[in-house]
Amino acid sequence: MKVGILGSGDVGRVLGTAFTKLGHEVKIGTRDTKKKEVKDWVAKAAQGASAGTFAEAATYGDIAVLATLWTGTENAIKLAGPKNLAGKIVIDVTNPLIFHENAPPTLALGHTDSAGEQVQRWLPNSRVVKAFNMVGNAHMFKPTFHGGPPDMFIAGNDAKAKEVVTKILEDFGWPAMDIGGIEGARLLEPLCILWVIYGTKTGSWNHAFKMLRK
Ligand SMILES: NC(=O)c1ccc[n+]([C@@H]2O[C@H](COP(=O)([O-])OP(=O)(O)OC[C@H]3O[C@@H](n4cnc5c(N)ncnc54)[C@H](OP(=O)(O)O)[C@@H]3O)[C@@H](O)[C@H]2O)c1
Repeated sequence: MKVGILGSGDVGRVLGTAFTKLGHEVKIGTRDTKKKEVKDWVAKAAQGASAGTFAEAATYGDIAVLATLWTGTENAIKLAGPKNLAGKIVIDVTNPLIFHENAPPTLALGHTDSAGEQVQRWLPNSRVVKAFNMVGNAHMFKPTFHGGPPDMFIAGNDAKAKEVVTKILEDFGWPAMDIGGIEGARLLEPLCILWVIYGTKTGSWNHAFKMLRK
């Protein structure tokens, strides 16, 4: 499978590397392919990994991953070109965070809306699935925790798209839990803040969520 990753930050590069380890071909999209992190990533990544503009990555991918700073997301989607993502699965990893100097981040959208829903509105012809947003990038691929694998909650309007993302998550080492339509992102995005608060309080960033059931 060809994967277009919109975003060259930690998440974009970690997920890009993970997809290549699973044998997929990846193009990372960025406004600046000459950026050191991007050049280093391409140099170290497996064969079949490349970088390009947001539009080139969107066009390249059979599926896309959206991993951009929230405040730059609308612009990144415009640069990617919604038509280049039409009909495709878009895995939305974004969190709509507002950062503060001496306090945890807060949400720019919440309760009655979410980044996931906004992304789906910006990409009306794409199949947006929220995933990966409630854990740090260091644990996104093959997580190992005492107590077994954590759960990845996912939300999206297209059942087939969620089946594909569930399979991808299994390959990444995550059981997926489908919580329904994309409006479920209203519940998943605050989990990121809970994850950050626990990390800040404990000074450890090695935690993830699991739903216990019998
Ligand atoms: N960091 C984590 O562990 C983690 C975990 C879960 C979810 N998330 C979420 O995942 C997303 C990515 O996080 P990150 O830490 O990898 O990186 P980030 O610093 O939040 O985002 C970097 C990406 O955003 C793009 N960007 C920034 N401003 C832009 C603008 N005005 N127009 C177009 N693109 C713009 C950058 O483009 P260029 O490449 O052109 O610079 C870069 O590709 C965020 O929404 C974050 O909340 C992060």
